[in-house]
Amino acid sequence: MLPTAELHIHIEGTLEPEMLVRLAARNGVKLPTTDIDELRARYRFTDLQSFLDLYYANLPVLRTEQDFYDLTSAYLARAAQAGVRRAEIFFDPQTHLRNGVPLEAVFAGLSGALDDARDISTDLILCFLRDLGADAAEETFRAALPFRDRFIGVGLDSAEVGHPPSLFREVYRMAAAEGLHRVAHAGEEGGPDYVWEALDVLGVERIDHGIRAMEDAKLVRRLREEQVPLTVCPLSNVALRVVGELADHVLPAMLDEGLLVCVNSDDPAYFGGYVDDNFAALRSELGLDDQQLATLARNSFDACFAPAEQKARWKAEVTA
Ligand code: ADE
Ligand code: ZN
Repeated sequence: MLPTAELHIHIEGTLEPEMLVRLAARNGVKLPTTDIDELRARYRFTDLQSFLDLYYANLPVLRTEQDFYDLTSAYLARAAQAGVRRAEIFFDPQTHLRNGVPLEAVFAGLSGALDDARDISTDLILCFLRDLGADAAEETFRAALPFRDRFIGVGLDSAEVGHPPSLFREVYRMAAAEGLHRVAHAGEEGGPDYVWEALDVLGVERIDHGIRAMEDAKLVRRLREEQVPLTVCPLSNVALRVVGELADHVLPAMLDEGLLVCVNSDDPAYFGGYVDDNFAALRSELGLDDQQLATLARNSFDACFAPAEQKARWKAEVTA
């Protein structure tokens, strides 16, 4: 098992059907069905939006601090089995606020589980839902400031096309002024122009996905020269039909270009696997060898926001 850092994981996307049913029963939330096979059969998507529709529809089952604690503990236990040494975990406070859950409960449940995790180094990254717009993002950021010590950075997710990074210039400026790290989803469904904006307007330190950057040679050169990390999510890209099949994925080309790419699971409950499943698929379906897989694992530690000495120790664990 390769040790790795997981840098692109939405905690809400780890809600397995079994937990969905358990939490729905606990909180008196009605689901269209409680049959696990039927629920899983609905996890088929035509694009990002078709996934987001189901993902948001499931989230009203999360109501209490205990719910967030249980969700996060289950992910951390599974991630430890997958070889994850370091997890930088996204969460979407706007979804929970919209569902009537106070930020106190969200932060207490998430940080409680992180504090209790024995085997994994963890931190939280607060994401803005880009389709709710810039004013909502700024309002959310201000509401989260009393919890400033509970998260290390901000991110940008949800429906990409039509909601370019440049709209969020001000809230990213506010985050930078607070000393927070900055990342953003760009180049998943959106084109290379979204990646340029994330770099130049938002000043992000990492790009989440970024696979469409490969369509722009000048951008590829920039990403290589600056060694900007790209958190690629292979099984997600296939599930959301961003690529046809795994064999068509640009990940090997990104490695050949000398880009700092790493492997992540995005929303593992929905996309057919955790980070170890992504690594296994890269070997079996894309034919990546031990050297390439080890490079991806080392890259993940280079790309993470942990202290340099710790990163070096994890990297030394990757042998191949
Ligand atoms: N939210 C959860 N998963 C996402 C993804 N893959 N892209 C954008 N927003 C998301
Ligand atoms: Zn994502």
